[in-house]
Amino acid sequence: MALRVGVVGCRGIGTTHATAHKNDELAELVAVCDVVKSRADELAAKLQVKAYYCLDDMLANEQLDIVDVCTGGPENGGWHGIPVMQALSAGKHVLCEKPISNDVEEARQMVALAAKNNLYLGVNLNHYFTQPADDAKKLIAEDKIGEIIYLHLRMGFPGSEWAYARTAGANMEGYPYFHVKAFLAHPFSIMRYFGGNVAQIQSFMSKPSYRIKTADPMVSVNSIHLKFENGAIGYMFSSRGDTTNYYGGWWSIEVGGTKGTFAIENCVEKLIYQPAQGNPDYTAGQGLGKAPEAIITDYGVSDFGTTFPRRIHCFLEDVTNGVPKNKLRASGRDALATLEYTFAAIDSFEHGGILVNPHPLPFVKPDPNNQ
Ligand SMILES: NC(=O)c1ccc[n+]([C@@H]2O[C@H](COP(=O)([O-])OP(=O)(O)OC[C@H]3O[C@@H](n4cnc5c(N)ncnc54)[C@H](O)[C@@H]3O)[C@@H](O)[C@H]2O)c1
Repeated sequence: MALRVGVVGCRGIGTTHATAHKNDELAELVAVCDVVKSRADELAAKLQVKAYYCLDDMLANEQLDIVDVCTGGPENGGWHGIPVMQALSAGKHVLCEKPISNDVEEARQMVALAAKNNLYLGVNLNHYFTQPADDAKKLIAEDKIGEIIYLHLRMGFPGSEWAYARTAGANMEGYPYFHVKAFLAHPFSIMRYFGGNVAQIQSFMSKPSYRIKTADPMVSVNSIHLKFENGAIGYMFSSRGDTTNYYGGWWSIEVGGTKGTFAIENCVEKLIYQPAQGNPDYTAGQGLGKAPEAIITDYGVSDFGTTFPRRIHCFLEDVTNGVPKNKLRASGRDALATLEYTFAAIDSFEHGGILVNPHPLPFVKPDPNNQ
């Protein structure tokens, strides 16, 4: 039976989520809700569902299985906590947009309440819900990468000094870490998906002179070193509109191991597998000092928007299948990890680039019936 879904927050991303639920056979979109009446009414009319203007009313009047929170707020996460806690307190499973919160203590409470009430809390860490990421995971599982040595990710909004326009809006005005808190959930989540938990973080952050001259508070350039628990080393570069990258599109990652290396280009577009030199399974191109020929898969997709319905479908699938809570893909705990890393990176920057150990994640109680 389809899961009954209500979406909270009816602007750009709420519309994307509500439309994905509407089109997904695992969901029945029942209602949408926004404190701004016209936004709820417009989306409800478009998708032929009921409109609400207050989450409590939606919870009281509809038999929902899932509440999908797309509310944004300060630093794009400041309004997630209250509706998520309301929905979890009412016994509903929750999917929440990223970042899980802009406040790490609040995020810990959200994750703890979901665990206490035995509910699914998923977060829209959509960037690795893609075919290239699935296929890259297979390469790791098939031991074609070997021991991971490094992860190198570059991600950012294209821009330049000509294209620069100071970004404004209540969600970002006066928040120097807007970009860091709103955005780094994505690159951290991708790196953790392939590299596992991060043990140490060190960061440098800056901004170009035109931002300094105009007193733009945005810390827009982030250079972050990571040491993973498994010993791998990582580097992340992120920027918001100060430069235009040639290689790899929206984001690219290269993960190098002792048996091979893979790279994902432009999030959804290409996967490159480079078998390591000396690999006996790949003879083509091998020679003195030469690695085998790389295998390049072009998926023929460049639209990052395709990650939304795919990620939402995976959440619906996990809830439908009743997967163990600790197996939920892109869980609240996974999103909390990215926020812990974000705060560790800020801490490092504010202390001149010191090494910071992110706070440990909450313990996950094992389920003896379903490991
Ligand atoms: N995963 C991604 O790739 C991706 C991309 C862009 C944005 N986002 C995230 O999506 C979220 C939403 O983005 P947006 O641009 O649509 O935000 P927005 O600020 O434009 O819209 C949020 C809407 O939520 C409503 N709202 C806020 N609190 C509410 C409450 N308690 N009850 C009912 N309605 C409430 C607001 O009135 C507004 O209409 C943000 O958290 C952002 O970080 C994710």
